[in-house]
Amino acid sequence: MKGIVLAGGTGARLYPITRVVSKQLLPVGGKPMIYYPLSILMLADIRDVLVITTPHDLPRFRTLLGDGSQLGMEITYAEQFHPGGIAEALLIGADHIGTDSVALVLGDNIFHGPRFSDVLARESRDVRGCVLFGYPVHDPHRYGVGEADAAGRLVSIEEKPASPRSNRAITGLYFYDNRAVNIAKNITPSARGELEITDVNRYFVAQGEARLVDLGRGFAWLDTGTPESLLQASQYVGMLEERQGCRIACIEEVALRMGFIDAAACHRLGEDIGGSSYGQYVMSIAEELTV
Ligand code: DAU
Repeated sequence: MKGIVLAGGTGARLYPITRVVSKQLLPVGGKPMIYYPLSILMLADIRDVLVITTPHDLPRFRTLLGDGSQLGMEITYAEQFHPGGIAEALLIGADHIGTDSVALVLGDNIFHGPRFSDVLARESRDVRGCVLFGYPVHDPHRYGVGEADAAGRLVSIEEKPASPRSNRAITGLYFYDNRAVNIAKNITPSARGELEITDVNRYFVAQGEARLVDLGRGFAWLDTGTPESLLQASQYVGMLEERQGCRIACIEEVALRMGFIDAAACHRLGEDIGGSSYGQYVMSIAEELTV
């Protein structure tokens, strides 16, 4: 399975901060926001990842993540010139996907919850159609909204409906089989001028091949769209990390635990930034997992 992180857009609701720095590079809990979706792909055992972002921001993502080899991964980059819609990621990433299945994640989506690694490992295996992840929210009209039957099969999906049929928001993590690329090629822009990912999903719903995995109320799917929600996300992560003494979305730790790199390589990554508490943590994890 190939991975794509979509990290473009204007971040207009976060102006003036995002006039000079990409939203997905802003700090959340002491690390760049993109670490969270990237670690989700890594936990799904995906090593080959395309980061799609604006021409302006691309060099900064490359400075941060390089070619991925330090994490035992292959990270490449592509430009999205205008925010033409989330489904455009499947077109920009068509060559990267090739004949494989794909996991697409939005660069501003933060997921955290019990045994999510197990869920990702299970759901990313042999994807048929699409697998979407639903989360109960009090304001579903702001999102894609899905309705599933008792077996978890999606029976309807709508983008930002005025009268939502359920409170299940469709989160920004999408697993697809290879047909998704051709489906994306055949959709047309919506009234807001975007290639809607919900239109791709709608195709699979019509085929009876869309599964909804319910993330449930014990899970955290955090918003980072406004200054207030960004601060809340940071506070949430900071509070858990402080209480438990472990870091959420530490990509070096994930690479080590997934077997992408060994403890010595992980330790060196910590040493490189050893002046920070993050670097110290990376080193301590490498030492802990050496014995
Ligand atoms: O977050 C989940 C929601 O994301 C889903 O429930 C919706 O179905 C889906 O359409 C999308 O909702 P929004 O329309 O509110 O997404 P937004 O335009 O805020 O874009 C989400 C992220 O993707 C944001 O960080 C910017 C980035 N993006 C967006 C577009 C449209 C791009 O990088 N390129 C784009 O062309």
